[in-house]
Amino acid sequence: MPKRFYVTTPIYYVNSVPHVGTTLTTVVADVIARYERLRGNEVTFLTGTDENGTKVAEAAEKNGMSAQQWVDSVSKQFVDVFDGMGVSYDVFIRTSGDEHRKTVQALFSLLQEKGLIYLDKYSGWYDVASEAFVRESDLVDGKSPEGNEVQWVEEDNWFFRLSAFQEPLLAHIEANPDFLLPASRRNEVLSFIKSGLRDMCITRSNSGWGIPVPGDDSKVVYVWFDALINYLTASGWPDNPNWQDVFPADVHLMAKEIFTRFHATLWPAMLMGAGLPLPKHVVAHGWFNFGAEKMSKSKGNVIAPLELASEIVEKTGCAPEIAIDAVRHSLIALLPYEGDTNFTRDEVDRRYNADLANDLGNALNRTLAMTHKFTGGVVTAGAEPLAEAVAHVQSCKANWEQAMTEFRVHSALEAALEIPRFLNKFIDEQKPWDLSKNQDARLPAVMNSMLYMLQSAAGMLECVIPTSCIEIRRQLGFDNPERAAAWQTIGDPRALNYGSTVATPNPIFPRIDPKKKQEMEQESQPEPKPAKPSKPKFEPPAEITIEDFMKVSLKVARILEAEPVEGSSKLMKLQVLIADEKRQILAGVQKDYTALDLVGRQVIVVANLKPAKLMGLESQGMVLAADGPNGSAILLAPEQEAPEGTAVH
Ligand code: MSP
Repeated sequence: MPKRFYVTTPIYYVNSVPHVGTTLTTVVADVIARYERLRGNEVTFLTGTDENGTKVAEAAEKNGMSAQQWVDSVSKQFVDVFDGMGVSYDVFIRTSGDEHRKTVQALFSLLQEKGLIYLDKYSGWYDVASEAFVRESDLVDGKSPEGNEVQWVEEDNWFFRLSAFQEPLLAHIEANPDFLLPASRRNEVLSFIKSGLRDMCITRSNSGWGIPVPGDDSKVVYVWFDALINYLTASGWPDNPNWQDVFPADVHLMAKEIFTRFHATLWPAMLMGAGLPLPKHVVAHGWFNFGAEKMSKSKGNVIAPLELASEIVEKTGCAPEIAIDAVRHSLIALLPYEGDTNFTRDEVDRRYNADLANDLGNALNRTLAMTHKFTGGVVTAGAEPLAEAVAHVQSCKANWEQAMTEFRVHSALEAALEIPRFLNKFIDEQKPWDLSKNQDARLPAVMNSMLYMLQSAAGMLECVIPTSCIEIRRQLGFDNPERAAAWQTIGDPRALNYGSTVATPNPIFPRIDPKKKQEMEQESQPEPKPAKPSKPKFEPPAEITIEDFMKVSLKVARILEAEPVEGSSKLMKLQVLIADEKRQILAGVQKDYTALDLVGRQVIVVANLKPAKLMGLESQGMVLAADGPNGSAILLAPEQEAPEGTAVH
């Protein structure tokens, strides 16, 4: 039996409900899985939830549930969202299950037998919130780099001999240039490994939740060591003699924050140690940002994918299943493959209107209407599509395939969307209405070219917007529209459904109603917006030279702490981070921002302003803000997150 194509997503923590961020990687994996199935491969697509962290017990207690009840309830929410989003996973793994425990313990014992796991005393700082040991040199003001409280712990623990894998890992990465993708992130991993790998403490004391260390019940396996093994559990290793039908993964997908240290270093080292085969590709994409603030339930800025779909139904009047496709489409179209990107409702709407309503929807509606008008609704038998249409489709298909060799699903989608874009131009140029009027013999071939392009586009877009493509095939007159085309037949002009009758056009992607959109945006505003101030008049200020301007050192900074200054109704005392320097800055933003609004936010500061005393406190810089209405302040922030200390010009 040929090995199955094996694609995985990270398994998600159960301390947060699913949102568009956690759905992104899963939908990317879904596109890959669907593509491989169309290519005739048997696929195992794995996703799931990471349920063994020590924080789980805390969260459960807070919510008045047992740990098991808690993980069951959150995990189910992931299942519901992924099902609702049409994700075609084959296995949804949960690491609190028995199967996984057995696999973790078997791998632990195997590595122990090989002398790669040993007992030693750990003494050092421990960040309980992040479940991570922190080096003394990494502490910032007595806290972990994430800003959490740390505790001093001294206990016997089990260590994984990660240091032994420094050279073998480097050799593997260098010999396999497409093992880690994209190349920019691969370079980060190389420098991380070259900077020196240290053995890793892989157990924690047992507080009643987690996977006990075999033969040492006083400890549980560190959640990361345990979580990575989920990819092996799903293959049935070690009991299933056919585990190699599935394992290793063809591609592990994730975002950048868990790539370098975990998926690109620790995981391959664990596999090398156990003598197990390494994944073919490990791919990390960037982050979706959600405005200046980090998405969190308490801030009320979580974008839930199914709710986003309901909003699209309301704004457009499209069918609910089509709105699901619209969300899938926006996730893929906006995928931050190399950098990061802002994910906003406006961008989702823009892509819907541009790609789905205008390009694809229009091409379909026009083609169907003309087919009814000019060829009696029939795909004329024997009239082969024109060579230029075939050449265009085949080049788009080749571009799709090329993009998918590096799992650049956003570029693959672009390649497929080039077909309806070309088709709309083709219609304008060929003018089928003139051909019909002049009884030109080329008419049937032109009409069939149009139908062929739509059919081909639907074949490829099937991976991203599957329900819409079924509807497109139905409208194109297919008897079995649910049946997607095998990949090899896409773009083959012989595969056109000659002789069938197309349906009456029924727009699949109605455009967004701008009035409705505006109404919805107004409704979702927590408070009525203050009336817009009249536009300030621009009065040319006194000129300065570029040299004058360059004297001002503007930097990106992050607010670490914020509190109102005692006795002042205006000033907030901020502690900000500029590169690795902490500064105190006083800012007159108390009326407009609470401490909660400010902490974590990036701002722009004047970093070389002479320190000044305000209300008896030193202010070592200035935070930039625009003048809002009635003397309020509107903080400036970089449009995308940038490292603290980045210069601003
Ligand atoms: N449980 C670990 C992973 C263990 S895998 C063996 C974990 N879980 S997580 O819930 O924090 O999920 C992180 C992953 O969710 C990211 O790597 C990424 O795949 C996805 N994303 C979550 N939020 C995201 C964005 N805002 N943007 C892009 N991807 C996002 O880490």
